[in-house]
Amino acid sequence: MNAKDVIIACDFSSKEATLEFLDKFKEEKPFVKIGMELYYAAGNDIVKEIKRRGHKIFLDLKLHDIPNTVKKAMRVLSELDVDMTNVHAAGTIEMMRAAIEGLTRPDGTRPLLIAVTQLTSTSEEAMRNQLLIDATIGDTIIKYAQNAKEAGLDGVVCSPLEAGIVKDACGNEFMTVTPGIRFADSGKDDQVRITTPERAREIGSDYIVVGRPITAAEDPVEAYRKCVKGFLGK
Ligand code: C5P
Repeated sequence: MNAKDVIIACDFSSKEATLEFLDKFKEEKPFVKIGMELYYAAGNDIVKEIKRRGHKIFLDLKLHDIPNTVKKAMRVLSELDVDMTNVHAAGTIEMMRAAIEGLTRPDGTRPLLIAVTQLTSTSEEAMRNQLLIDATIGDTIIKYAQNAKEAGLDGVVCSPLEAGIVKDACGNEFMTVTPGIRFADSGKDDQVRITTPERAREIGSDYIVVGRPITAAEDPVEAYRKCVKGFLGK
């Protein structure tokens, strides 16, 4: 059985804003996602500080380059001691294998490695007309997830609505990490394919990634607890 957890997307533009947000959590140590904005603004410093405070970290940098470059970049990231990181499945099976090789430390341990399938911002129309991919979004997600599994990755990032088809194609042990989570009584922001924490659990998400419903809430700790209760039932 995979671990299940709520990951907070810390989409802040500075170290100060991030730490001020995390300071609100006195009892819990939430799993934290650091994306490109925060990493490019605050670098390894913020990763090390959040780790020092005892949080688990998903470093969401979505690497996509030639296999040798990804391998070497992953080698550098492996020293940061994060718990999860990712690549684009579109980089091919060879690139994903190189990523695992780079990420694996001399003692054989490594962070979890997952692959982005199709970004939730990519429409089927754009895929067909701009990328010349003549398949449905669903079929590409399944194929990319199967490629990630073949390369030895631990799972994929996908919409919570797609977690079920990924599990059907790749097995229950293959992890699904799903953004696009909203409370039943809140707005969608710019997300399109969304669902609630409760429903995400039913469909098969292993980790839900939640940003603005927690970071922009009047009481972020209460919003986090509501997510945990909905998703984990406790
Ligand atoms: O604020 P919100 O809950 O929409 O944040 C979702 C987080 O998940 C953001 O950091 C966003 O970049 C990320 N994400 C996403 N859809 C993807 C991949 C990542 O929303 N397909």
